[in-house]
Amino acid sequence: MAETRPNGESREVSLRAVTSENLRAVLALSVAEEQKSVYPRSNAYSIAEAHYPPDDDPVWFRAVYVGETPVGFIMTSEVPEQGEYFLWRLMIDAKHQGKGYGSRAVELLVERIKGTPNGKRLITSHLVGDGDAGAFYRRLGFEYTGEMLDGRDRVMRIDLSRDAGV
Ligand SMILES: CC(C)(COP(=O)(O)OP(=O)(O)OC[C@H]1O[C@@H](n2cnc3c(N)ncnc32)[C@H](O)[C@@H]1OP(=O)(O)O)[C@@H](O)C(=O)NCCC(=O)NCCS
Repeated sequence: MAETRPNGESREVSLRAVTSENLRAVLALSVAEEQKSVYPRSNAYSIAEAHYPPDDDPVWFRAVYVGETPVGFIMTSEVPEQGEYFLWRLMIDAKHQGKGYGSRAVELLVERIKGTPNGKRLITSHLVGDGDAGAFYRRLGFEYTGEMLDGRDRVMRIDLSRDAGV
């Protein structure tokens, strides 16, 4: 059963489509100022890239909700026929961080991928710096592959064909 706040509002995390109804709220979400060196892209930038991606792989994105409140954003680039999913963006608004929402959003993504016929691997990458997301992803079972993307992003991977922590 989903946890509820004292006012009765649900704290269940869900991934919901970005629509004309919630667009402004999603664009208003932001990481903390000091996190922008390791996560420089705004949600506006990410949504624009989702529509004009650098390659032909399908892009999937959702707002992260807690109950009826948008708190974050998640976006993947996908090669379903190879069972490969790349977690391209993940952010939780600064004032909602540290409450388990980011972890739950990744778990929901993993559940979705495991529900696809061929989902095998979830890959991500992060810029290196103070407060980078490496420790967060390691806690979820991701491991470093040793590769770098564009010479500056460390690549991490979780194998979904075995149960690896999420
Ligand atoms: C990384 C991020 C998505 C995590 O979301 P969150 O909701 O704050 O994370 P959770 O509350 O689920 O954290 C789970 C655990 O990871 C830890 N954690 C979260 N972010 C961390 C970070 N940047 N470095 C180290 N540990 C971190 C939390 O302290 C928590 O540990 P605890 O249970 O011992 O307290 C969020 O901090 C964020 O938006 N950061 C800026 C954007 C970013 O770096 N995104 C990743 C892109 S590659």
